[in-house]
Formats: sequence, C-alpha cells, structure tokens
Amino acid sequence: MRELDRKKIIDIHAHILPGVDDGARDLKESIALAVSAASQGIRAVIATPHFSRRGDPDEYRQLLKSVQTEIWKSCPDFQLYLGQELYYHEDLGDRLLSGQALTLADSSYILVEFNPAEPFSRMSRGIRNLCGLGYIPVLAHAERYGCLRESGMLERLREMGALFQVNYESLTGRWYDRDVFWCRKQIREHRIHFLSTDMHQMDHRPPEIKRALDWLDKNVDAEYKKSLTEGNARRILEDGAVR
Ligand SMILES: [Fe+2]
Repeated sequence: MRELDRKKIIDIHAHILPGVDDGARDLKESIALAVSAASQGIRAVIATPHFSRRGDPDEYRQLLKSVQTEIWKSCPDFQLYLGQELYYHEDLGDRLLSGQALTLADSSYILVEFNPAEPFSRMSRGIRNLCGLGYIPVLAHAERYGCLRESGMLERLREMGALFQVNYESLTGRWYDRDVFWCRKQIREHRIHFLSTDMHQMDHRPPEIKRALDWLDKNVDAEYKKSLTEGNARRILEDGAVR
C-alpha cells in the first residue's frame, strides 16, 4: 500500500474493476478510467462492483491486485481499495456477516442502494436493520430516490445512522433541472457526506468532476468541499467517524 497524498480526491463509488458488472469492460478500460480520474485530481478509488450472489470476494481481491499493478504502470500514485455496491435485500445483513458481501475498504461502512421507487418505510427499515448489525450505510446516489425528495426525509435517515453520497455529475446539469436543483440545495445545506463519480465506462458515465468542483468552489466553503471530496472518504479508509 502506498501512502496517499493528503491533498487529493478519494472516490468511494466506482465500477472500475474489469468484466465483473456493467462497469469497465476490460483491463484497458480500467486503466483508461484510472488515467482520466487521476488527471482530474483523484488519487484513490474504492472499487465498488455490484454485489452478485455468484460473485466470489476472493476473486475480486485477486482481480483488484492485478488491476492495481497494471494501473501503477501508468499512474504510480493511484491507489485502489475494494468494496461493493450492495442492492438492498432482506438477507443482505447475513451476506455481510458471512463475508460474502463486502464493506468499503474493510471498514464498517457499506455502500447501499435501493430501488429508486422504494417507499420510505421500507428504505428506513432497511437502514435500521443494517445499522443494528453494526454497519454504517452510505446511501449510494441519494438523488435517485423519490421518497427522499420530501423535506425532512434525509434528516430522518441520518438520525438512524445513514450517510449520503451524491454523484458529481448530478451537480452539473441545468440549474432548473429538478434533480440538479435538489442536489445543489442538499449540498448548500450540508446534508451530503460524499461526492463520487460512480464511473462505469469511458463512453458511459466516465469520471467527470471538473465542472462539479468549479460549482463547489463558488457555492460552498473550502472545508466542506474538502469533506465531500476527500476528508470523509479518508475517514472510511481509516474506519474512523464521519460527522
Ligand atoms: Fe454504482
């Protein structure tokens, strides 16, 4: 493990591992994603392939090692960690406890997604269930859930122990777009904890963060920008507390 430059961006949601989900199609594309991310200031990524019942965590670990070795040939200071994006289902807790589903970088944090049309009652039950098992759920692309658009809903999940991740690209559409408007409002009011690329492929959701960083520079203070892009993610890597 190489020491991270303390001033660089850390991405906690990335489908950069090749050939395991709808992310990078092959090693060449994994490297291209890393090179593009690194050119924009990203220096560490938690690879988060979608959980699949057929997926073998040991195979992911091996794959991550070999991809890391190849990426270092082009980006010597680019660090990969392993995690998973976990679609919520009733036996997810058991899968986590048995080690079949992975936390983020071996921490207590997990990246969780729900059906975008999930009712709040079911989402909150799921969050409570995962917190009760000792995990800290980070809700992936919080902007996707209709039930969270109502005022006060993020706060209710936060009180249960959830944290929120929004995609960089969701900040950069037209200001009157309802999704962009919602994301910007939540960020201005400091309700979001992580910005991530959710990178997939070079021609489908590539890592593009520059315009979002420009928006942050104009609209939030430097300390909160650092928390969103790096500080809170670093706390995951250290398995420390995100506030
Ligand atoms: Fe994702």
